[in-house]
Amino acid sequence: MSFQSEIVQWYLKNKRDLPWRNTTDPYVIWLSEIILQQTRVEQGLPYFLKFLENFPTVAHFAAASEERVLKLWQGLGYYSRGRNMLHTAKYVMDEFGGTFPTSYQHLVKLKGVGSYTAAAISSFSSNERQAVVDGNVYRVLARYFGVEEPINSPKGQKLFAGLAQELIQDQQPSVYNQAMMEFGALHCKPKLPLCATCPIQAGCYAYKHQKVALLPLKLKAVKARKRWFNYFVGITDDEILAKQRKPGDVWQQLYDFPLIEMSQECAVDDAALLAKVKEMFGNAVALKVLESRKHALTHQTIYVQFFAIDNYIVNFNEHAEIKSVKITAFKQLPHPKIIGDFIEKHID
Ligand code: ADE
Repeated sequence: MSFQSEIVQWYLKNKRDLPWRNTTDPYVIWLSEIILQQTRVEQGLPYFLKFLENFPTVAHFAAASEERVLKLWQGLGYYSRGRNMLHTAKYVMDEFGGTFPTSYQHLVKLKGVGSYTAAAISSFSSNERQAVVDGNVYRVLARYFGVEEPINSPKGQKLFAGLAQELIQDQQPSVYNQAMMEFGALHCKPKLPLCATCPIQAGCYAYKHQKVALLPLKLKAVKARKRWFNYFVGITDDEILAKQRKPGDVWQQLYDFPLIEMSQECAVDDAALLAKVKEMFGNAVALKVLESRKHALTHQTIYVQFFAIDNYIVNFNEHAEIKSVKITAFKQLPHPKIIGDFIEKHID
């Protein structure tokens, strides 16, 4: 049997029953694919169901407020994905009369839809012959065919895309694409792949040359930038100090607390921090660390400390971004995950 037939046979026997596999509706597939970008299936599944329940069609999605989309998105990270979805839903209403496109060439023009996602939606919804190349596919191809070019170099990307497109030629695009991704996710795994029971072991370059653990190759990313966020939690009666994050930085437009960012770790009595606290909150503050957390993003690591403050007087003239809002209203707003977790744990 050919490589492709073995993969498809394996898939038909071993595939997971995932809800987006039982549909050819391009809107539903789009929802699932955007949610599953950079998100594991187990984590993404409840979000997919929640979005579909709230927005059963693209028209429902397009009519939503950004705040509502971001609230539903809360916890998934990479919030631009959620924002792009709303933009795209509106675009589909305006430009396609509410009929979600199924062709690769239309899909790839949508905001937030790259070549992988366009290939996925077009092949799953209308069987267009577009090979998907995601992390799973890179791994299977690199190992089986012995491709030693890095998956993230321009040359590597071309090579893998060409190979994938060649392999899909005589296949059923929808099934073959799903099969490649599923085989990479469940069998040809990054760590501890199941080589002993692999149906294509005999033809596998990496297995034969003992390079399974070495492939695929990837160029190292630049080191993550480190940041120190000091948040100040000020509560009086039923109000809390809140702030909306600005464009141009992480978590844009989500709501957090007054923040003093420092270029290194600071203790409660750090003079530089206290000077900034005084400028923001006046003299009478008591500082107590409520919690410290580390939050790893793709290109930055954020060390977060939450301080309780008391008897503060906010300099609202200098800090118009800070507002005192009702705690019940604040809880309804979209927050970065680390803030949402904090609220859940500490604020009644
Ligand atoms: N990850 C991204 N898209 C997927 C899909 N369609 N099925 C399973 N995992 C996925």
